[in-house]
Amino acid sequence: MQETGTNNGRGFWSSRFAFVLAAAGSAVGLGNIWGFPTTAAQNGGGGFVLVYILCILLVGLPVMLAEMVIGRAGEKNAVGALQHLKPGTPWYLVGVLGVVTGFVILSFYSVIAGWTVFYFIQAAGGALKVPEGQDSATYFGEMFESMTANPGYEILFVAIFMIATIAIVAAGVRKGIERSVKIMMPLLFVLLILLIGRSITLEGAGEGLRHYLKPDFNAINRDVIIMAMGQAFFSLSLGMGVMITYGSYLRREECLPSSAGYVVTADSLIAIFAGLIVFPVIFFMVAVHGAEAEDLVAQGAGLVFVIFPQILVELPGGAAVTAIFGSAFFLLLAIAALTSAISLLEVVTAHFVDDWKIPRKKAAWGLGGIIFLLAIPSALSQGAVEWLSEGGLFGVSFFDLLYIITFRFFLPVGALGLALFVGWAWGLKNASLAIQTGTPNFRLEKLWQIMIRYVAPIAIAVILASQIAAVFASSDDQEPAEPAAEESPAEAG
Ligand code: PHE
Repeated sequence: MQETGTNNGRGFWSSRFAFVLAAAGSAVGLGNIWGFPTTAAQNGGGGFVLVYILCILLVGLPVMLAEMVIGRAGEKNAVGALQHLKPGTPWYLVGVLGVVTGFVILSFYSVIAGWTVFYFIQAAGGALKVPEGQDSATYFGEMFESMTANPGYEILFVAIFMIATIAIVAAGVRKGIERSVKIMMPLLFVLLILLIGRSITLEGAGEGLRHYLKPDFNAINRDVIIMAMGQAFFSLSLGMGVMITYGSYLRREECLPSSAGYVVTADSLIAIFAGLIVFPVIFFMVAVHGAEAEDLVAQGAGLVFVIFPQILVELPGGAAVTAIFGSAFFLLLAIAALTSAISLLEVVTAHFVDDWKIPRKKAAWGLGGIIFLLAIPSALSQGAVEWLSEGGLFGVSFFDLLYIITFRFFLPVGALGLALFVGWAWGLKNASLAIQTGTPNFRLEKLWQIMIRYVAPIAIAVILASQIAAVFASSDDQEPAEPAAEESPAEAG
């Protein structure tokens, strides 16, 4: 059991720093290091980055603070906190959607995380090398395909990743989550710096950075805005109660607005920095091999797992450099994924611990086990089982289907619900009072109130409505959705 406290005896973070680290650990994930740079590249580079930053400031930051204060004042998980603050009303359903979203996201997230573990082991063991006389593109293409087409093998790595996630959550907030993020987040930071140092000194790096950061305002259109908002919620872990749950373990005398500010800043900087690794590497490939940048960018998963290894084996310095740079890169991804996965599982676990009185260890292992089972169809849909793959279900793979509905609908709907809850149902007065216990003079209070009551809900609602309109408008040709699928052939050339 956890140590007792006033929050229904659920235990607290040992400090605000631990809370910020855990929340940043949740936010910084595959969505930053792989999702952000590729989504940006596919949606017009600098123009997308600009829209993204606007989404973060107008919607992300206010909703982040709203979630944190709901959790701390509600002293419970996403469902229980809403019930506690507005008993006898249906608002708790927003929390239920969050718990469901946690299940769904973790089930496909763990599949990619499993791949990162596989590639980390390959890289660290010196197995990222092309046999004499073979073409590296074909070789690594086949390596990826043989991994995804071999169900037993792929599922093994998902299992390894899930066991690590479950073990941390089962150990508790302080002894599990806090302790692990205190080791993993500094490591993540060191790896990131190391990787940037290597990549920005590569041949072609300047061209890569130019391509990444050059604002192309003509490219900003409805879909770019939709993608930017989806990316903002996904990347900040908003709309499903992660920050409610983590906030519920924070003491009342701690400052929430600055905590939200730190988490948002860390997440955005790391997303932008990740582009400083990915783009130079892509353009190294362009400079050395004359490859088409657009083709490389359009690859999605292939970019990280097929193109990257091809570049790794070409790095000046030989096999040792490949092993070091390669294992650092995949370890970075694996760690980022793990600190996010524990938050996803914690949302689900905390609900069953608080509201169903299931002991933490049982809840974590039982729920984690169910999520692992749900991950299997996603894993198989990557090539092993045809009817789960491309074209089988609604024209997209099972994996993409889950990704699309959470990224494009569940998270924005959840965030809208939470903004309305704070702005209109629970009320700005109550929310402000709950913030003030740790921040007696919250200088941006008025501004935040306007944002959470009007700006954020209107912005989210408009974007959601236009998405729904887009789905109806194109219901016969398939949903564009997943960044991996979002190729822009028009630009190639
Ligand atoms: N924020 C994580 C990422 O960027 C993903 C995530 C989404 C985690 C929602 C928790 C909740 O990869």
